Amino acid sequence: MGISLITCATLLLVSLISGARAGNEFEYDDPLSFSYYHSSCPELEKIVHDKVNHWIKRDPTLAPALIRLHFHDCVVRGCDASILLDHKGSERRANVSKSLRGFEVINDIKAEVEKKCPKTVSCADILTSAARDATVSAGGPFWSVPYGRKDGRISLGKEANLVPMGHEKITDLVELFQSKGLNILDLVVLSGAHTIGRSTCEAIQYRLFNYRGTHKADPSINPKYLNFLKRKCRWASEYVDFDPITPHKFDVQYYKNLQTKMGLLSTDQLLYSDSRTAPLVSTLASQTSLFNHQFAASMTKLGNIQDYSADENGEIRRNCNYVN
Ligand code: HEM
Repeated sequence: MGISLITCATLLLVSLISGARAGNEFEYDDPLSFSYYHSSCPELEKIVHDKVNHWIKRDPTLAPALIRLHFHDCVVRGCDASILLDHKGSERRANVSKSLRGFEVINDIKAEVEKKCPKTVSCADILTSAARDATVSAGGPFWSVPYGRKDGRISLGKEANLVPMGHEKITDLVELFQSKGLNILDLVVLSGAHTIGRSTCEAIQYRLFNYRGTHKADPSINPKYLNFLKRKCRWASEYVDFDPITPHKFDVQYYKNLQTKMGLLSTDQLLYSDSRTAPLVSTLASQTSLFNHQFAASMTKLGNIQDYSADENGEIRRNCNYVN
């Protein structure tokens, strides 16, 4: 009880500090701004909002897909829409990107935005805004998005391997996040995006049938959940929901699942066994409003990752799939 109260207080404090920095204030030289398109494209947010909702109404699986697309974009060369470039050898064409979806939504938004405010809004800003609206449409929190990102001209397939695929150790994830300016709290909170969406069975079959060459299942999986997964995942091409209890609801059930050994990826489950992350999982599992508040703050930090060397050569792409 004492420990959990202390953990909770610490988390709140860290959250308030990072929330203030990420959500509302910017340092003097911060290039992004909330008013960036106020006069040059005042309708931008309405266009994005309407389009995202239109697509998600037709296909709700696009909500998690857009959130994931934004994450993959920001991990490689910052949030510069490099994931959208569609040419031989690009990140998007890499093997690790093959289950990414939502590209058509961004193209549709971009086409509409170009009609209203040509050559003005970057694809990186559109993707960031779409990921926020997708979160809200799934029942998650709203946050204000600052704008002014530039689109990168470089996208290299081998750099897509930076994105974690679920078999990493927690230390690898902590180091990756740290290298992007994100801390352990951001890691645990952003992993909570796995409260919605799905994975291909290909990504987890090794956990079910041949974990670390044992020809047995990963012992950290709850036996009943293991049976369920084995039935669901006979074929690598099948899909399985991240959260078997409330698969389409943006809630804290993801963290509760980790407490009952029902994390889908090994990296999800490890968050509850590593001493650096487990107390955060316990706190978030019982505090919906804290999760929502911190998710908004951590997504703001994710969306603000910028690779300044790329930024110097950045552009406003006319078509999100190709450099100008
Ligand atoms: C921390 C390490 C992370 C790992 C190891 C990881 C890994 C994965 C994997 C393996 C999948 C399924 C891919 C497939 O279909 O085969 C997935 C899906 C997903 N990831 Fe993550 N992820 C991580 C962090 C994040 C973050 C930070 C976000 C967003 C903030 C995110 C959002 C999602 C979403 C929403 C899906 C579902 C996509 C869909 O339903 O189409 N992930 N992730």
